[in-house]
Amino acid sequence: MNSKAIITSALPYANGEIHLGHVASTYLPADVTTRFLRQKGVEVYYICASDDFGTPILIQSEKEGKTPEEYVEYWNKRDFEDFTAFNIKFDFFYKTSSLENIQFVQDVFKKLEHAGHIYENEIIQLYCNTDKKFLPDRYVIGTCPYCKANDQYSDLCEKCGRVPEEIENPHCSICGQIPVKEKTKHYFFRLKNFSAKLTKYLESNQNLQKDVKKYVQNWIKEGLTDWDITRDISWGVPVPVDGEKEKVFYGWFDNHLAYISSTIKFLNDNGKDGKKFWNEADIYHFIGKDIVYHHFLFLPAMRLGIDEEYKLPDYIPTRGHLTLESKKISKSRNWYIGLKDFLKIFPSDYLRFYLVSINPYSQDDLNFNWDEFATKINSELIGNLGNLVNRVLGFTVKSFNSIVPDPEKFDDMDKESEKMIHELASQLSVLMEENHLDRALKKIFQFSAHFNQYFQHKEPWKNGAGTNSCIFLAVNAVRSLAIAIYPFLPESSQKIWVQLGLDGDVSTEMFDEISSITLKQGHKLGQVSPLFEKVEESVIEEQKSKLGGTS
Ligand code: MF3
Ligand code: ZN
Repeated sequence: MNSKAIITSALPYANGEIHLGHVASTYLPADVTTRFLRQKGVEVYYICASDDFGTPILIQSEKEGKTPEEYVEYWNKRDFEDFTAFNIKFDFFYKTSSLENIQFVQDVFKKLEHAGHIYENEIIQLYCNTDKKFLPDRYVIGTCPYCKANDQYSDLCEKCGRVPEEIENPHCSICGQIPVKEKTKHYFFRLKNFSAKLTKYLESNQNLQKDVKKYVQNWIKEGLTDWDITRDISWGVPVPVDGEKEKVFYGWFDNHLAYISSTIKFLNDNGKDGKKFWNEADIYHFIGKDIVYHHFLFLPAMRLGIDEEYKLPDYIPTRGHLTLESKKISKSRNWYIGLKDFLKIFPSDYLRFYLVSINPYSQDDLNFNWDEFATKINSELIGNLGNLVNRVLGFTVKSFNSIVPDPEKFDDMDKESEKMIHELASQLSVLMEENHLDRALKKIFQFSAHFNQYFQHKEPWKNGAGTNSCIFLAVNAVRSLAIAIYPFLPESSQKIWVQLGLDGDVSTEMFDEISSITLKQGHKLGQVSPLFEKVEESVIEEQKSKLGGTS
């Protein structure tokens, strides 16, 4: 395992609040992975930023009577607060509109231009006579030239995932009218020239998910097209060419560069050589499947274009979209749950538990279902883990004066349970290293279920032979669980730690400690109390009734 890692997750647009869809596919898996790698002793940093530029943000800020700077400043702060409340713990949360990023983007552009990867071209731009404006990207809907899907935005087809060169049958997305065509000059990136190098990168990187890789390779085979990287608006990174006024880079040219510029700033500010670290570390970019094209083609091509001055991604963990009660999330139809609102009602670990457990390491969509949420929390989180912890620790407090007893000679069942403790760390490690977070969590809960059965079978309340061994092993298993759940459920993990009577911060325990039997006879437990509160049916019904109505 590489001893250094940089983790990023897709940068949220500074244009509205974080909702469950965002955290499920990207931020939560990245946070869990960061916490896990840290337990493994990796020097890992989780870096993110708000994605500040682009036409939608400019227009929305105007509507609200704010400057775009004020507008993005608000969302940058708000996003960070919401993430923090969900225990998504960035080492650094910066912004694409930072001075550092602007300079970095301009610098990269100059290097690309110098290397011959940029050219200018006159293009036809769509202009809406009703709305009196140029219509870039999301302001045009039409038919995807590749898969013929209707009602797609001109900059990304949601059906096939490709970025159309020219959308067919264009309509203005504001008023629905057919736009007229006007001429303007844009800068282009020679993406076509990178086909061979991209193919080589995809082939040689064994960490990328096979199915994603396959369809990206198909896109390359079908032929890439050069990429229009500028826009005629005022809000963006200015194109650093004399005489170019009111021409900025397209948001997707600058945003992913903030992965690098933010990391470098953070590391340099902390007395390290940021660039050196980047090139030594494993680089992870966590994304949702809608932005595969950008992360598997544009992003690596740009890094290749500057001679891999910053290394290409080692991992691009890609996950599916979250649907809500089996329907597409939509803010305008109020089919949507804001993260902040959710956390007003339920503890963050409930949501973390549920979202990880329904989220495989694949592009399959996942579904948030209120009833399933309640069932999983009540029967698994509380019924299994919460029950074990409370039962074992509560019993030890009551019947053993909070003191871990001296075990007797182990019988077969004790030995089997002891073996499970010894094997848990390596079993989990394999799954976590492959990013099968859902399977790792499942394994942890199987371990917990085993100890529930073990405790039930041993009937320590009858105080027969073997009772001491049972308590001894069960208390140690609770300690193993506290460390094992830390990446997933950091708050509950620390609570268990305190109830076990252990000092300090559970986050500093090394991963392999999961498999050691450390609590010896005579160890005194702390104060014990139930970890969780049941999710009530009435609360769930109330939440359900909020969906779809007018907010
Ligand atoms: N803001 C973009 C989105 O939400 C993601 C940007 S990720 C980056 O789709 F790599 F480009 F920064
Ligand atoms: Zn398409």
